Amino acid sequence: MRFYKPADTQPCYYCEKIAATEPEQGYPIREGIYTFENYVFRCAWHARFECAKCQTQHHFSWLYWCPTKEELVCGDCNKPTLRPVAFWDRTYAYQFYCEACGDYHVDLLYAEFQGTHPWQLGHRDLVSNVESPEPWMPLWSPTKQREGIAIALTEALKLPHRVMLLREEFQHAYRVFKHGVPEGEVDFSETRESWDKIGQSWLDFHEDRMAGDPNRQHIIDPALWTLLGDVRGLSVLDAGCGHGYLTRLLATKGADAIGVDYSKLFIDYCRKVEAEMKLGCQFYEASITALTDFEPQSFDVVVSNIVMVDVLDYRAAFKEIARVLKDEGRFIWSNVHPVFGRADAVDVRIPRDSQRNEARYLKMIDRYFDTGGELGEWHSALVWQFIRTFEEYSKALKEAGFVISEILEPRPTPEVIQQHPHHLAFDADRWPHFIIFECLKRRP
Ligand SMILES: C[S@@+](CC[C@H](N)C(=O)[O-])C[C@H]1O[C@@H](n2cnc3c(N)ncnc32)[C@H](O)[C@@H]1O
Ligand SMILES: [Zn+2]
Ligand SMILES: [Zn+2]
Ligand SMILES: [Zn+2]
Repeated sequence: MRFYKPADTQPCYYCEKIAATEPEQGYPIREGIYTFENYVFRCAWHARFECAKCQTQHHFSWLYWCPTKEELVCGDCNKPTLRPVAFWDRTYAYQFYCEACGDYHVDLLYAEFQGTHPWQLGHRDLVSNVESPEPWMPLWSPTKQREGIAIALTEALKLPHRVMLLREEFQHAYRVFKHGVPEGEVDFSETRESWDKIGQSWLDFHEDRMAGDPNRQHIIDPALWTLLGDVRGLSVLDAGCGHGYLTRLLATKGADAIGVDYSKLFIDYCRKVEAEMKLGCQFYEASITALTDFEPQSFDVVVSNIVMVDVLDYRAAFKEIARVLKDEGRFIWSNVHPVFGRADAVDVRIPRDSQRNEARYLKMIDRYFDTGGELGEWHSALVWQFIRTFEEYSKALKEAGFVISEILEPRPTPEVIQQHPHHLAFDADRWPHFIIFECLKRRP
């Protein structure tokens, strides 16, 4: 396969970066004749190569050269481990255990740095899909073979050079079937039967009675608690309490805590746990759009943790929450981020075939104003979620009698990321996936 050769070329994206890191080495900036996405031009050294095993093309840093078999093999066909090493502008290389050699081979990017790239070793015609480098696409080798600087794994994981391999574990496809359905046209019955299934898998997933999912533990809750502050002696409603961990935490911190959820499954579970733990929580099965169990001005604080995304009539929910709050009471609620948390946001990498963390990783949104219901598949059941703009939420809060007093866009600290590297899956340090509003009920 030959690539489209553009009339106008640019300097190779990778050559330019490499050359800039050690000017004294005289790294040549080759012409970028290959373009894969019309943003990034790459020379033959830094293009893609075909794997001898799967016959698929891969980013050059995702392949290694086996000198015994004299072939290139990709990281999908032979999974690498990481070598934490500082070289050029990088903090890690991939290394592949090769059964044929009984030894490790490194990826082509690191190999070139070392001087062991097959082209540097004289194997010039080794792949079918990329022409061997032309004279104007010069060979370069370091003055002597080198290894870079061995560093600790924690260093290699440091932002922004994290390890995309760790993502795999957490990649679950979220399939979207309908998008931008006006709220008036959403047929909730489409998901009604799904709820039991989802509810049960939610409970199975949330074995820890005193903690939410990892997003909550590592990203949302630390920020949520900075807003909640000292809750001793306060009456607090947890609106949409789910398995009830936050209600329980509020009670252990001295609040008079009540949890409400419209799922019978969750409320039964919460009551059962309360009967065992006796923390003093109460639980009610009710929709937060009709909190008829509660008198006006009952609560100092209403907290609602990632619930509005599931609520069709959010305006009614805001009004009910305002009604049951005392004047100047606080409504603290988190949600998926109106921009970056949208399920229809598209992840784009530049260069697009790079899995490496140094590559740019964009969240792209089209038609921001197409809000409404989105029918997606979650835990193999269909659920509606709702996309709303900042403006829609802001207007509805104002109409319900709130002023927004603070907005947080929580992200994990670098320490938390290092302690829980599998959480890199969410890239929560690159863009906010969640948002937290603190609102005050205005005096009438
Ligand atoms: C994503 S879960 C979050 C649960 C819990 N707040 C947590 O953070 O773990 C959303 C919860 O909102 C509940 N929910 C959705 N719409 C509701 C409504 N109109 N009234 C009450 N609960 C609702 C669901 O049953 C579910 O328990
Ligand atoms: Zn290049
Ligand atoms: Zn392969
Ligand atoms: Zn080998």
